[in-house]
Amino acid sequence: MTATAVSYVPSQADPPFARLGGESAIRAIVERFYDAMSALEPDLARLHPCDAEGRVERQARDRFALFFIGWLGGPQDYVAQHGHPRLRMRHARVPDDRMAAAWMRCMRVALEGAGVEESVRAYLDGQLGALASFLRNRR
Ligand code: HEM
Repeated sequence: MTATAVSYVPSQADPPFARLGGESAIRAIVERFYDAMSALEPDLARLHPCDAEGRVERQARDRFALFFIGWLGGPQDYVAQHGHPRLRMRHARVPDDRMAAAWMRCMRVALEGAGVEESVRAYLDGQLGALASFLRNRR
């Protein structure tokens, strides 16, 4: 008999931040995310500040990690340090359908590679997918 998939419903007491293992685990996921981007989606990586080898730079990784930690329900340090993320404005020149799909592929590789449980991945896929679609400017 196959086990029934249990869906994950986040709450203040059980945010994705905790399910992912807290700050250091999320920073490791962000490293996986940008490493996957440089390896698998070089066109997307190149839209970010990169070093000579095409790897997304440390500062960009750290800023996204800080944002992501807050977005997942952890400490709101990004907002404290950088103010409102203004995601729509920041992505104004960037995403179309193809780039949004590439971004999601990298995030799936990172979450799966880090061993995040399936129910939490399914939840994040929905939430991040909706945000990525919202940030698209062209189809
Ligand atoms: C739709 C697919 C996406 C693409 C193609 C994309 C691409 C980019 C690019 C190229 C940058 C660097 C902009 C620059 O500094 O010039 C960036 C920054 C950023 N993106 Fe995205 N992004 C996507 C989706 C998302 C999503 C879903 C989130 C939120 C979960 C997000 C959060 C951020 C943040 C927080 C920054 C950095 C802001 C900072 O530097 O303080 N992005 N993105």
